[in-house]
Amino acid sequence: MGSGVRLLVLGKQGAGKGTQAVRIAGHYGVPHISTGDMFRAAVAAGTPFGVKANEYMKRGELVPDDVVIGVVAERLAKDDAVNDGFVLDGFPRTKVQAEELQRLLGPGGLDAAVDIDVPTDTVIDRISGRRVCKTCGATYHVSAPPKVDSVCDKDGGEVVQREDDTPEAVRKRLELYEKDTRPLLDLYEELGLLVTVDGVGDPDEVFNRVIQSLPR
Ligand code: AP5
Ligand code: MG
Ligand code: ZN
Repeated sequence: MGSGVRLLVLGKQGAGKGTQAVRIAGHYGVPHISTGDMFRAAVAAGTPFGVKANEYMKRGELVPDDVVIGVVAERLAKDDAVNDGFVLDGFPRTKVQAEELQRLLGPGGLDAAVDIDVPTDTVIDRISGRRVCKTCGATYHVSAPPKVDSVCDKDGGEVVQREDDTPEAVRKRLELYEKDTRPLLDLYEELGLLVTVDGVGDPDEVFNRVIQSLPR
């Protein structure tokens, strides 16, 4: 492992994990590794894996642990993550995934687990207005849209609503968060790695909170 920062970002669906993880990764110059983005890229490419993953994703269910762990292990083995570090976004989200990550990274392999804390009412609001770029995954909101309607500011890609941002799938995703992912907060607390950040407020404000609460 190199000398860069090794972080993971936790939080409910719509808490702003992606929004913050992009900024944090840019700040430290490390790759942003989002399992959701990786799966959506596979879906868009129409690979057999993508077709299978989409069956779970569109219903708001979790992709099976062994599959997710395989994808993440492969990504973390690449040079940039090994040499520079990483910001993991959306992984782990079950106890099995967290334990496997500890095994993969070894003792001292993680600097912090950042929990972006946002009330459920607020995340439902954020998700219902979310729009994403089909090409690069950049995130917008109907209240903060791209400069040109439905066209990504970064790469001109088409900006659409996510297939799993339906009220039904969102309800399912939030349910699974409470059941499978919330317990990870205790786990990282016990490891002395948990950093809780208030995720309500302007994204820049939240970002400053994150950077200030991270160990130097
Ligand atoms: P994933 O893509 O990770 O989705 P998620 O967990 O549901 O989280 P979101 O991406 O919805 O929320 P976010 O916290 O990133 O919020 P965002 O920054 O976009 O996973 C999708 C699916 O893939 C899963 O359901 C599952 O099927 C599968 N999967 C992925 N990882 C897996 C794993 N490890 N195991 C098993 N299955 C897995 O922000 C939301 C909105 O709010 C945006 O519109 C944004 O612009 C806005 N916003 C953000 N911050 C603010 C702010 N401070 N103020 C106002 N608005 C804000
Ligand atoms: Mg996200
Ligand atoms: Zn884009």
